[in-house]
Amino acid sequence: MKAIETIRWDDDTNSIILIDQTRLPISYRMVRCRTVDRLIAAIRRLEVRGAPALGVAGAYGVALAARAVREKDFHRYLEQVETASLAVAHARPTAVNLSWGVQRVLSRVYKSGSIAEAHHLSLKEAEQIALEDVRACHAIGDHGSALIEDGSTVLTHCNAGALACREWGTALGIIRSAIESGKDVRVIACETRPLLQGARLTAWELKRDNIGVTVIPDSAAAHLMRNGEIDCVVVGADRVCHDAVFNKVGTYMHAICARAHSLPFYVAAPFSTFDPVHSGSEIVIEERDRDEVAFYGGHATVPEGVPVRNPAFDATPLELISAIVTESGVFQPPLDWDFIAQTRRVI
Ligand code: MRU
Repeated sequence: MKAIETIRWDDDTNSIILIDQTRLPISYRMVRCRTVDRLIAAIRRLEVRGAPALGVAGAYGVALAARAVREKDFHRYLEQVETASLAVAHARPTAVNLSWGVQRVLSRVYKSGSIAEAHHLSLKEAEQIALEDVRACHAIGDHGSALIEDGSTVLTHCNAGALACREWGTALGIIRSAIESGKDVRVIACETRPLLQGARLTAWELKRDNIGVTVIPDSAAAHLMRNGEIDCVVVGADRVCHDAVFNKVGTYMHAICARAHSLPFYVAAPFSTFDPVHSGSEIVIEERDRDEVAFYGGHATVPEGVPVRNPAFDATPLELISAIVTESGVFQPPLDWDFIAQTRRVI
């Protein structure tokens, strides 16, 4: 499999380098974020996207803020780093990894005793988060591959692959690990309207690894399930709450269809995507711009003046989920959060 490094820190220029995912599959270009504002723009435009990659972006964003603030007074310095870091955390609301990555690095900044130490500790912690993400994805792959039978066709939605993480992927990590273990696995990638992360990104990275992938319109999923062409569904997550899993809009629809056709529905997510604090009803689902739905290839597809709704995510109730694959193993709902908290501590 060819390695993809979605996001990294560049020591020479004190900047973040990331793959511009808005240009794939037409061109493969890197973007350099030298300022916090540029990073926020990259997150909002989805140049970098996917929950674990956003966690890493948030973490590096604090390291960037720690270097960008020019204040000499240490107390005022900390206040300004916090303000800039929170702006990164709020760039997109639904994936919990973004604020988790920011808070984890910010807590190291608060513990530092000088500006020089804040520079050092923020980058050290951000690099640790990036490393842990790689390890978590490979562990998810190893645990999840046991769920995939040889000869399976797996339906996935959006992109929960290397491009959505530092590398390897969560849902696609399971597929990669299953294939590495010798299984024959084919993928059905839902195109994922309106921004086509499935068609553009999942298909791009699987083709690059010579993994068999076929793209379908999102609305064809039930038809293929009814025809017996799908063996299971594997998706990623943006936030795992007590009662629901948030992921790209359309996921809930696939979960209902999978239940109707008695197919297993698996979610792959590292613990950085778990939210032990909020229930599903408290989570803000990002509503994105009208034009993402109302225009296609530069042409209007909706009459002017007609309102459009564009929620980027939906919530799938845990009852519809067969299992959640984490870096510590496979959990069946209902989730025992005390057990998860204990397991999480010993990683
Ligand atoms: O709007 P996006 O492209 O950031 O949405 C991404 C998803 O919904 C992914 O499925 C999710 O973040 C899991 S990534 C491992």
